[in-house]
Amino acid sequence: MNTRPYIDKHQQRFIDELVELLKIPSVSADPNFKKEVLMTAGAVKINLEAAGCENVEICETSGFPIVYGEKIIDKSLPTVLVYGHYDVQPPDPMELWNSPPFKPVIKETDIHPEGAIFARGACDDKGQMYMHVKAMEVMMQTDELPCNIKFMIEGEEEVGSVSLEAFLEHNREKLSNDVILISDTGMISKEVPSITTGLRGLSYVEVEVESPNRDLHSGLYGGAVANPINILSKMIASLHDENNHITIPGFYDKVEELSSEERAKMAEAPFNLKDYKDHIGINDVHGEKGFTTNERNSIRPTLDVNGIWGGYTGEGAKTVIPSKAFAKISMRLVPNQDWREITELFKTHFESIAPKSVKVKVKPHHGGQGYVTPIDGIEYQAADLAFQDAFGKPAVPQRSGGSIPIVSMFEKYLGSKTVLMGFGLNSDAIHSPNEHFGVWNYLKGIETIPYFYKHFTELYQKENQ
Ligand code: BES
Ligand code: MN
Ligand code: MN
Repeated sequence: MNTRPYIDKHQQRFIDELVELLKIPSVSADPNFKKEVLMTAGAVKINLEAAGCENVEICETSGFPIVYGEKIIDKSLPTVLVYGHYDVQPPDPMELWNSPPFKPVIKETDIHPEGAIFARGACDDKGQMYMHVKAMEVMMQTDELPCNIKFMIEGEEEVGSVSLEAFLEHNREKLSNDVILISDTGMISKEVPSITTGLRGLSYVEVEVESPNRDLHSGLYGGAVANPINILSKMIASLHDENNHITIPGFYDKVEELSSEERAKMAEAPFNLKDYKDHIGINDVHGEKGFTTNERNSIRPTLDVNGIWGGYTGEGAKTVIPSKAFAKISMRLVPNQDWREITELFKTHFESIAPKSVKVKVKPHHGGQGYVTPIDGIEYQAADLAFQDAFGKPAVPQRSGGSIPIVSMFEKYLGSKTVLMGFGLNSDAIHSPNEHFGVWNYLKGIETIPYFYKHFTELYQKENQ
């Protein structure tokens, strides 16, 4: 393929265009940014058109719109559907950013001596999504687009893709494809390209513990009335036993147990415990007994408090027994665990462990199923060959701990397999302050993607001769 010279020639513009996109604060979780989220959809539409897409439209949903575009060159050729998201996580806590989250700057880091773009969404997922838009431009301009291509870029991924299920259900024909291609995950390192072969599911709940009907003087009432924060802390602490197993009855019933061969294969992926600890500044790792760090954060389910509040948290001291305490809890699930079932198990258990002195409410937020991708299909093979062309070495399969609930829905509604070709690094700080995306990774992604199209089309044609 003769795509690299085009990429080299236009790389500065590719970077500049991404920087423009990153300036729009498309925070889907915060209603104050509604206008900006919608503006971003508009910007994605313009960029898809500029890259050579046809029939580009902003499809309304009950939430934020989905941007669709396509280039159908020949109905007898295979069709690749690219999925990505243009919404981003809230930037908080703001004070921990070294530069403002929506004023992108390029700075060198140890891992990215070529520079990295610092901005919310740089890696998750505007940067990775935009690699596909630019890869399309590259293929169009160098006459290398070998098959049909469809884009579906959504604006609600970070809040659970709530409108997407209905959209898939009502647009099966429009979205029909032979494979789905997503860059919204990571790679092991710049030297070790990897293909994500598994994602965890998710159940996200909020709990409320209420004791007295108003805040009380902690001297007048202290000792005689249940303090909801004390009770909530105790209840949460009881959700793990001394081996860090989750104590909810039935929680592990459907968890897929990997064979010792599969676990041995996983353990071959390069991993350095000291680097892992140093990067995030921890003294030691922590987790379920009997599993390695890589297993704990990919093939095992978890339960974590994401936030906890109640009572007085302002300046100084205020003596008070609060009326209420709250927590947000996420459970990462593994394939075969059903998120609705787990949410129910959590609710029943959490209500059952509450002492009589308090009232408890469990409010489910959102969730999604986990996923494992097969590694014996042509889509995996094509991705692997693409990495070989661009990196000079095959990719390592890697099960990730993150969640993209839409992937299992794609299989359910469209009958499609998904390939997860990620170019982010764990150190890119997605969802954290100072999120960034390496310029090298961005350009390498744009280089790798066209090879996928080439190999997938060739393998598809061989298989369907
Ligand atoms: N891109 C991430 C998921 C991800 C990141 C998977 C890295 C694997 C490696 C996605 O945007 C995300 O943040 N998903 C949410 C779930 C969603 C339902 C809010 C997550 O994993 O917390
Ligand atoms: Mn993402
Ligand atoms: Mn995300």
